Amino acid sequence: MIEFSGASRTFRTRSGDVEALRSIDLTIAAGEFLAVIGRSGCGKSTLLRLVAGLLRPTAGEVAVGGRPVTGPRPDVALMFQRPALLPWRSVLANVLLPLEIRGRVHPPDRDRARTLLDAVGLAGFHRRHPHELSGGMQQRVALCRALIQRPSVLLMDEPFSALDALTREELAGQLQQVHMEMRPTTVFVTHSIPEAVLLADRVAVLSHRPGRVQRIITVDIPRPRSFGHNAHLTDVAAHVAELTDLLHATDAPAPLHIPGSPR
Ligand SMILES: Nc1ncnc2c1ncn2[C@@H]1O[C@H](COP(=O)(O)OP(=O)(O)OP(=O)(O)O)[C@@H](O)[C@H]1O
Ligand SMILES: [Mg+2]
Repeated sequence: MIEFSGASRTFRTRSGDVEALRSIDLTIAAGEFLAVIGRSGCGKSTLLRLVAGLLRPTAGEVAVGGRPVTGPRPDVALMFQRPALLPWRSVLANVLLPLEIRGRVHPPDRDRARTLLDAVGLAGFHRRHPHELSGGMQQRVALCRALIQRPSVLLMDEPFSALDALTREELAGQLQQVHMEMRPTTVFVTHSIPEAVLLADRVAVLSHRPGRVQRIITVDIPRPRSFGHNAHLTDVAAHVAELTDLLHATDAPAPLHIPGSPR
């Protein structure tokens, strides 16, 4: 379980304070999948970094599993937009890295890494190196690396946004499968509303800076869900429409003014 209690974060910069998040109150149940959407710069990555222990709140508190977050911990895994694999290590060795950092790798760990890689369609690629893989394949390796420690919390910051549409859908489908099997408490930041509706139990819409939780929508569609034709197409469309409206309703940033152009 993840709990935000009045959590705020302000950044001190040379040109003044930037209030990224203001007084977030939010509880994410154990095993829940929460998607977070909001305009660029509204504080989504900051929210994840607070849970990951990479940042401290400037007010309030964030707790994971009932304990206040004071720094990174092994039961909380993080995955970014870019895979960030080590180029000199094989695929398998990249997946095992978090275990190696914490101690010894045991034979069952290797088996588990192989099972994870096979599950995301990378059977036969274990001994390859990152440069031999496509972007989508690299991101699959990063997903396995995030899952190798059986994290109780999985934090994902736009993990599929650098991928082509088809690969993205495939990976979202695999993530859904992984979540149904392993049930990590998941916070998934995305700019794609259909992706949020496909994956999430609830979708939190953040307001523009300072980020606050503007609304939370429950997605009550049975799993497994799919982007294609299915019995719940109208439910999916209704949720997507509602979220799109909500996102448009968040305060728009000031319009861009190019000097010399008429106002
Ligand atoms: N280390 C930092 N120092 C100063 N300001 C920061 C820092 N990190 C984030 N900010 C500011 O905090 C605000 C929120 O940033 P954040 O990266 O959380 O937004 P975001 O919602 O993830 O945006 P995007 O959708 O573009 O990824 C922004 O105004 C950003 O400039
Ligand atoms: Mg971000």
